[in-house]
Amino acid sequence: MTPALPFDCIRHILEVDDLSAGELAQILDLSGDPAPAQVLEGKGMALLFEKPSARTRHSMEMAVVQLGGHPVTVAAAEVGIDYRESAEDVARTLACFHAAIGARVKSHGLLERMAAVSSVPVVNMLSDQAHPLQALADLLTVKQEFGGISERRIAFVGDANNVSRSLAIGAGLAGAQFVISGPPGYQFDSTDLDRIAATGGAAEVVDDPFEAVTGAHVVYTDVWVSMGEEAQAAEKIDAFSGRYSVSKALMGQASTDAIFLHCLPANPGQEASEEILYGPQSRIWQQAENRMHAARGLLAWLLGVS
Ligand code: CP
Ligand code: NVA
Repeated sequence: MTPALPFDCIRHILEVDDLSAGELAQILDLSGDPAPAQVLEGKGMALLFEKPSARTRHSMEMAVVQLGGHPVTVAAAEVGIDYRESAEDVARTLACFHAAIGARVKSHGLLERMAAVSSVPVVNMLSDQAHPLQALADLLTVKQEFGGISERRIAFVGDANNVSRSLAIGAGLAGAQFVISGPPGYQFDSTDLDRIAATGGAAEVVDDPFEAVTGAHVVYTDVWVSMGEEAQAAEKIDAFSGRYSVSKALMGQASTDAIFLHCLPANPGQEASEEILYGPQSRIWQQAENRMHAARGLLAWLLGVS
């Protein structure tokens, strides 16, 4: 039997619903603080990557620096998770030196194993199931653009994946409407819908992307083939092609003040046309910059309360 762990009070952020609605609002407020408390002064944060990253690595490193801390980025291959030593022992080791651990993993279960034994907070920097740091930045962008999130309509055109799942959960907590449109077979399942409903929100699932974006304030998309899904690439591209690409015609169906978001990296011409990705309604670079502000807000809150 696994002995009871002494770390029950540690807050881990593996998905957006590890936060309450009030905590999410507090973090978004803190994200706008240009002079945050130096909660990481003299401390480190380990940033462990099993998959490539541009935005997450840089935004997290800079957020740690802005909080007075020292980021240590490590490729998982250098650590040898589960072949040099177990994920649990990696977490226990990193916790000896760092105030928090961030991890980008192939399998969400690995994060759960690390969090189960870690004496410092573990933050999900993307797993196959969830991307909470991205959702925080997305909601921050919506808040900046519209002065609030509640009652805004967010339409996601694309895959029921880590990004759309975390965004739907975050939208529910923030009181936004969320609708997703993708081909049958690539839509939220009942477990996802139950989890979203538990936030107090709901995800509307529709086949027709034009129906989804009608009246939307935010039109969002992500790649059709996520990291780790390379074997399914041909099948997925075939399922999404033609109908589920954000085009000028699709964007024209949204609210006149609608913005376009994409977590990036993008495949221009595939899930969105170049004219939409780089056009006047796009806020993708503001959204990318917000990764740093949102990460700083989250860490300021997390390490301020832990
Ligand atoms: N959006 C995002 O997480 O980007 P990276 O994969 O480059 O970190
Ligand atoms: N869904 C994408 C997001 C990348 C930031 C992936 O997991 O590859």
